[in-house]
Amino acid sequence: MSVIAGNWKMHLGPEGTREFFTSFEISEAAGEHEIVLFPPALSLAAALESPDRDPRVQLGVQDIHFEDEGAFTGEVSAPMAAEAGATFALVGHSERRHVFGETDADVARKVAAAMRHELVPVVCVGETLEERQAGRVEEVILRQLAAALQPLAEADVRFLVAYEPVWAIGTGETATPEDASSAHGSLRKRLEGAVGIARATRVPILYGGSVKPANAAELLGSAEVDGVLVGGASLDPASFAEIAAAAGR
Ligand code: PGA
Repeated sequence: MSVIAGNWKMHLGPEGTREFFTSFEISEAAGEHEIVLFPPALSLAAALESPDRDPRVQLGVQDIHFEDEGAFTGEVSAPMAAEAGATFALVGHSERRHVFGETDADVARKVAAAMRHELVPVVCVGETLEERQAGRVEEVILRQLAAALQPLAEADVRFLVAYEPVWAIGTGETATPEDASSAHGSLRKRLEGAVGIARATRVPILYGGSVKPANAAELLGSAEVDGVLVGGASLDPASFAEIAAAAGR
């Protein structure tokens, strides 16, 4: 079983969300996979209440604050997201890290907040082009993973990891299947060391960064790739359905 996740970023308001579900259908092949969408927080209710949404499509939020409540204008907390019906939370997405200056320590606190409120965290890690060119891929992604794992190591809760090289996000550039497999292999080893082999095998590691219908099957077929986190191509119901179907082939 693969995980096919879609991150809508700051696209699709409530109306666009309802429209998306009027034409998004899970094919028979895709039905055995786990499908999760991350609409903007303001569109979560529209997604949940959409009469056209296949109940197999699970929903999450794109970010949470690490405090449960307080004077944090504009932020969304984990208990609010859970109360509103989210079951997953992206944590440490590269745009949060690089556009909004989120640190590894912030990410760890957000993972802890997700855990407190039974949201399944999807911990995103990935290197910049500069870091890749400097041969620092492993160092960077393992450091990011180690920080996020601190709150997760002790409690036996479910979580996912997403490897998203920053240079591949929204650029049309994709990691080669070999690059993805190699990064995923390193992450898997570190996971095993941190939480034990038995628990680590239950943690899917998704690939993200310019995943499209044309490259999804190859990426999903790569060693160590347990699913995909799709940005741009998840906004179009037909493309996202095609990507989900690629997992079943
Ligand atoms: P992209 O985004 O598929 O548009 O490259 C992926 C992501 O940021 O999750």
